[in-house]
Formats: sequence, C-alpha cells, structure tokens
Amino acid sequence: MKTRLEQLVMKSKSLIIMLRILNNLLIPPLLKNYRIKRVWAKITAQMSVEQSVEEIDLMFNEYLLYSNLDTGNLRGKNVLEIGPGDNLGVALKFLTSGANKIVTLDRFFLRQDSRQQSRIYERMHSVLSESKKKLVDEAIKIENGSFHLTNDRFKYISGKSIEEALDLFGENAFDFIVSRAVLMCANDADAAFYSMDKMLRKNGYLIHKIVLRDWQVFADTSMHPLTFLTTPDFIWKLMTYPSGGPNRKCIDYYRLKMKELHYQSKLLITRVVGSESDITPYKEKLQYNVDYDDSTLSMIEEIRPKLTKRFRSLSSEDLMISDIFLIAKKLV
Ligand SMILES: C[S@@+](CC[C@H](N)C(=O)[O-])C[C@H]1O[C@@H](n2cnc3c(N)ncnc32)[C@H](O)[C@@H]1O
Repeated sequence: MKTRLEQLVMKSKSLIIMLRILNNLLIPPLLKNYRIKRVWAKITAQMSVEQSVEEIDLMFNEYLLYSNLDTGNLRGKNVLEIGPGDNLGVALKFLTSGANKIVTLDRFFLRQDSRQQSRIYERMHSVLSESKKKLVDEAIKIENGSFHLTNDRFKYISGKSIEEALDLFGENAFDFIVSRAVLMCANDADAAFYSMDKMLRKNGYLIHKIVLRDWQVFADTSMHPLTFLTTPDFIWKLMTYPSGGPNRKCIDYYRLKMKELHYQSKLLITRVVGSESDITPYKEKLQYNVDYDDSTLSMIEEIRPKLTKRFRSLSSEDLMISDIFLIAKKLV
C-alpha cells in the first residue's frame, strides 16, 4: 500500500527524476546496492518454494527450447549465468543437466534469503536421481537452514559486473553465457558484449532474455509506458547508472550488435508495449491484429513527439517491442 506522499510522487515525472538523482548522489554506492536488492528480494520473497522451483524450471527450459538445444548440448560445457537474482536454482539445473562448470556473476551484493534458498535447493534435490543428488551434494552444503558452495564447478561471484568479467575469467572461458532480465541493466552495453564475446568459445552461445521496457522508474505510475524514453540521456544516466536502472537499448541496438560481431543470431519478440504478459510462443515477427493493433500504433504515435531524438526516429514496429529473447552462436 502506497503512502499519500508516494502517491503524489508517482504522479509527477519531474519529482521522480529529482528523487532518483538525489538518491543516487546522496547514498553511497554500497548502500544503494542493498536498497536495490531489497526491491528485487521483495518480489521473490512473496513466492512459495514451489513457485520458485516452477520459475526456475521455466527459465531453464526456455533457455534450451528457444535455442533448439537439449541437455546433451550442455554435457561437459562451461556456463556463465549473469545476474542470477535471488537464488542459484537455474545454475543448479545447468549443473545437474551435465554442464562441467557453472559460474554465476552479479554486479551487486545481493541481500539473499539463505533459508528460502536452502529450501529451494532441498526441494530441487529431492526429485533428482541418485547420481545427480551426489553432484548437488558435492557442490552445496546445506546446514541449519543456511548453505555454502563447496567446489569449483559451482561458483557465485558478486560485486562484479559483466562489463568487468573478462579480467576475471579470461578469453574462451565459456561455451554458454545466459541471463534473464539483466542485460538491460548493463550501464555499458558495448563493454558487456565485448566482454561476453571474448569470454565465449567458438561455437558457443549467448542466450539472453532482455527486458527493453521501463524497469522500476516510471513503470509503477499511470504514465505512458514509453515515458522513460522521453528523458534526455545525460539526465537518465544520473537517474539510473549507479543503482542499475535500464540502459534504454532498443531492439535495433541488439540487431546491429549481432551483425557487428558476426554471430549467427535470432531475436525473438517476447512482449509488446502496453501488454502485461508475454507472447507465447516467442516469435521473430509480430503480426498486425494478432500481436498488436491500431490502439498499439496510436499509443506509440501519441508519445513519439515527446521522445528524445534517437528514439523518435525508430519505427513503430521497433518501439512496440518491449522484451526480447536473443539466441546467438559465435561462428569464428
Ligand atoms: C532483475 S534481476 C533478474 C534476476 C534473475 N535473472 C531473474 O530473472 O529472476 C537483475 C539481476 O542482474 C544483476 N545485474 C544488473 N546489472 C548487472 C551487470 N552489469 N552485471 C552483472 N549483473 C548485473 C542485478 O544485481 C540483479 O541480480
């Protein structure tokens, strides 16, 4: 339930901008990290263990399904998961599905719920075959409602961003680099792709679900969903960079980046502006009167004159794409 003051703030774009900038300037970086994590933890703390495990299965299965891969393709491979969030369940799935090594990396020091995590891992463990149970037992030790990681095949590194990861792992370290709802937070998307490209081995895959819409800035207000594209770049950076807000890269950025890197790639559209849910199955091309209609086009044209220059010139088809799934294979 929002207080009156919060309700008032949510109605004013300028107030939101001002408070965001003030917040970034006044709070030291470390505390900011904790604040962000509380916001995220709030979402998953409301989930039961069953729901979390379902979500983990869904995420893992999506990585394979849309890449046309199966667990056989993971056998003996090294995987990097960026921004795992509140638990390492997806990473555990990679490990128990044959990966040789799975490293998880997060820019922030997460405020995770150790008890909840332990319950999730115990639940996942309970349905595994004996040989897979052994793998988990070797990787995680759960004691008195808390856990720690016990071998090099299953790692969690926090306080390092994907942009900085090349220095940590070196070139050709991974066969798969995956993430969900993370790349939009990379302050320097070019540096993130440079780092991923160098760390990925030939024939390796980048598999990323990427949120292109507003993320926790104006999104909780009743404002137009593309309001976040109306703020000039330098103000946007002050508002979001230290605390990890969206970098406002649209689908055109990822298209160009894949061309530049010479990857064999596919960009699937997973959500359309104004919609609360994903398109299923994800698709390469949106269909008029199926995935969007005249009201979507009017919504975009209504805000277009207010968009900052680089967004104003994008096509309606690109502006309406609010989330994507990127599958890219490194050929050379
Ligand atoms: C929105 S959460 C998504 C969590 C999880 N992947 C999921 O889908 O439930 C984004 C996560 O990415 C992390 N993150 C943000 N920017 C990052 C960066 N540049 N490098 C690594 N991790 C980052 C955040 O700290 C957070 O844990």
